[in-house]
Amino acid sequence: MADVKALLFLALVCCSALAVNIKSKGRLNSNEADAIAFLDQYNSEYGPILNQYVIASWNYETNLTDENAAAVGEAGAVAGAYYAEASATAATFDTTNFSEDTKRQLSYLDSVSLDDAESEELYNILSEMGSIYASYQACRSNPTTGVNECMYIEPELTELMAEVGNYDDHLWAWEAWHNGVGRQLRPLYLRYVELSNKQARLNGYADYGDQWRQKYETTEMETIVQDLYSQVEPLYKQLHAYIRRKLYNAYGADKINLRGPLPAHLLGDMWGRFWVNLNPIAIPYPEKPSTDPSPEMIRQNYTVERMFRTGNDFYTSMGLLPVPDTFWNLSMLEKPTDGREVACHATAWDFYDGKDFRIRMCARVVFEDFQTVHHELGHIQYFMQYAFQPLNYRDGANDGFHEAVGELMSMSFSTTKHLNTLGLLNVPDDPEVDMNFLLFQALNTISTLPFHLIQDTWRWSMFRGDIPDAELNDQYWAEKARVVGVAPPVGRDPASDLDITALFHVCNDYDMIRYFMRTFFQYQFNEVLCEAAGHVGPLYKCDFYNSTAAGDALAEMLRLGASKPWQDAMEAMTGQRDVLATPLLNYFEPLKVWLEAENAKNGEFIGWDLPATKEKAPVFLKDKLRGKLDVTSPKINKEAAKYLAPIFAEALQSLRKVRL
Ligand SMILES: *[C@@H]1O[C@H](CO)[C@@H](O)[C@H](O)[C@H]1NC(C)=O
Ligand SMILES: *[C@@H]1O[C@H](CO)[C@@H](O)[C@H](O)[C@H]1NC(C)=O
Ligand SMILES: *[C@@H]1O[C@H](CO)[C@@H](O)[C@H](O)[C@H]1NC(C)=O
Ligand SMILES: *[C@@H]1O[C@H](CO)[C@@H](O)[C@H](O)[C@H]1NC(C)=O
Ligand SMILES: *[C@@H]1O[C@H](CO)[C@@H](O)[C@H](O)[C@H]1NC(C)=O
Ligand SMILES: *[C@@H]1O[C@H](CO)[C@@H](O)[C@H](O)[C@H]1NC(C)=O
Ligand SMILES: [Zn+2]
Repeated sequence: MADVKALLFLALVCCSALAVNIKSKGRLNSNEADAIAFLDQYNSEYGPILNQYVIASWNYETNLTDENAAAVGEAGAVAGAYYAEASATAATFDTTNFSEDTKRQLSYLDSVSLDDAESEELYNILSEMGSIYASYQACRSNPTTGVNECMYIEPELTELMAEVGNYDDHLWAWEAWHNGVGRQLRPLYLRYVELSNKQARLNGYADYGDQWRQKYETTEMETIVQDLYSQVEPLYKQLHAYIRRKLYNAYGADKINLRGPLPAHLLGDMWGRFWVNLNPIAIPYPEKPSTDPSPEMIRQNYTVERMFRTGNDFYTSMGLLPVPDTFWNLSMLEKPTDGREVACHATAWDFYDGKDFRIRMCARVVFEDFQTVHHELGHIQYFMQYAFQPLNYRDGANDGFHEAVGELMSMSFSTTKHLNTLGLLNVPDDPEVDMNFLLFQALNTISTLPFHLIQDTWRWSMFRGDIPDAELNDQYWAEKARVVGVAPPVGRDPASDLDITALFHVCNDYDMIRYFMRTFFQYQFNEVLCEAAGHVGPLYKCDFYNSTAAGDALAEMLRLGASKPWQDAMEAMTGQRDVLATPLLNYFEPLKVWLEAENAKNGEFIGWDLPATKEKAPVFLKDKLRGKLDVTSPKINKEAAKYLAPIFAEALQSLRKVRL
């Protein structure tokens, strides 16, 4: 996080002077030709500046030294200064009578920020939250050796949570992590909420949650997500009841209540977000051949480079773009062995010069990483397809689209049919194997839907000030129990805990509705591409490898980038403008039928009894914040805020240049 602080500091220094120059500009310019000339200049000048900045970031993240961090700060200051000046110029236009396109391009250069002190405070809070999350270690004395052992979230705690079986280990890890991280983050997070809301209101949003929702260019997001979820909830409840039985079998009657919510610490990761690691106990027909090709990959001496070549071949087989030659020389596909410290989290990078695209990953030869390779290549494909667009349009139609592309390809790639043709599986056509496959898919997707949903609906309520301050944590768990059917394994303290913060995306300021939306997009796109490829039969058997018709349909949509509202991009590909749940439901219909029969056979209770709730006198966050969030307060130097805004926005965006 050192790089980010340096960036902000330099940017602050550089731009106080700039603000003075621009202040005297006078009346707004309504001449569109001037605006177009300005945008042309911006596009040709800012690309190379951004390129230098991304190169510096890459050098740092693949070689974590102080020297490299300082270089990020310098490049960031240059980019920040340019962006600030461009934003100030953009604000000098009256766009009322401009074409939609000019308006849209200018709209990406239009944001206002907090004053210097509060900008810096918010920045420092974000850095500190990120660093607490990354550096926290849970320690305990090894029961056998008595030696003190400390574990980071990656890889040790994650590996521990992935193992099914040891209840006490999971309980220890869950509690150590949530108490250790959540309690440190709570006061920082509450201040982050205040400052983010204040900034959002300066920009005309009702609150920060409203700002997040409006990224989807609709005022209906709250209705849209609830409507989508109500359609998949019956399937989720069947999966929930089925998994509860499997946990009961694994952990026993004293640990699992067959009418209760699931304990949060037994679901295969620290958060209960993805349930794939429960596959060993959940697989419907364990005696049937496995659909996991990892052992075969190892037997065939697969290498990481071969995994990427195979992935790239999947895209090119459809007539999509190959990664550039430089991708192979410049990417970091494996963890370096030369002693360098690097960030490992798999990411895809756009260098904004139209030709340099890279992946940073510490890939291992296992199937899970093979799927991630296809996911990251999806981001790269999107980057390449929209590379010809003006700078401000080089982005996904929305964040959910960007996440959906690689998942979509990975779905086809992972079918038993495709893995058979690659020689990685030799599995017969068998309905029981199909059910193993579908359940595995469901553990990776259906389980995440209510999880991702409430992560953001709860935060939307919180940003709105609807949740009593003293009840933030209790209400989070109440919502979790109500919608997800999951409960904390131990009592929580409402005054000091804030468990939602102990997740990467929350303390690093990412919304999560993108992952909820991408799941629907992915199945919706899949149905269209399968049809284009001439597929007949169940959708879970569709493999559109080699189909240029499917490739063309996808490319047409990707090329739009962010130049149009996502509804237009959706229409270009699927012929209609709405996000739909039916493609996902169609895909999983055979599994739903199977789960219903299985659960009926075992006499499962579908759903869960809610824990009793306590009555408390409400103290609303919005009351507590009243006054503090008054945007007309003379404390805020609006003039300064206007010029600092883009710098701060740019600095925040620097964390998002990459795609996770
Ligand atoms: C890492 O960065 C340092 C500069 O801080 C540089 O001297 C070194 O050569 C770099 N290492 C690699 C492997 O690029
Ligand atoms: C926009 O066009 C209308 C109608 O021609 C005109 O009355 C108005 O003054 C224009 N506004 C600006 C800002 O140019
Ligand atoms: C304790 O240490 C032993 C020996 O290093 C190790 O095998 C074992 O996994 C450790 N136990 C736990 C619970 O971490
Ligand atoms: C994999 O490598 C081993 C050791 O180099 C070799 O004996 C074996 O034949 C290789 N297997 C394949 C399928 O190439
Ligand atoms: C990539 O590296 C290879 C070997 O070092 C070299 O021959 C090739 O020219 C490089 N290609 C590019 C595009 O830089
Ligand atoms: C893909 O197309 C190529 C070239 O037409 C063909 O050789 C290959 O067998 C096809 N692969 C599959 C899996 O259909
Ligand atoms: Zn991604």
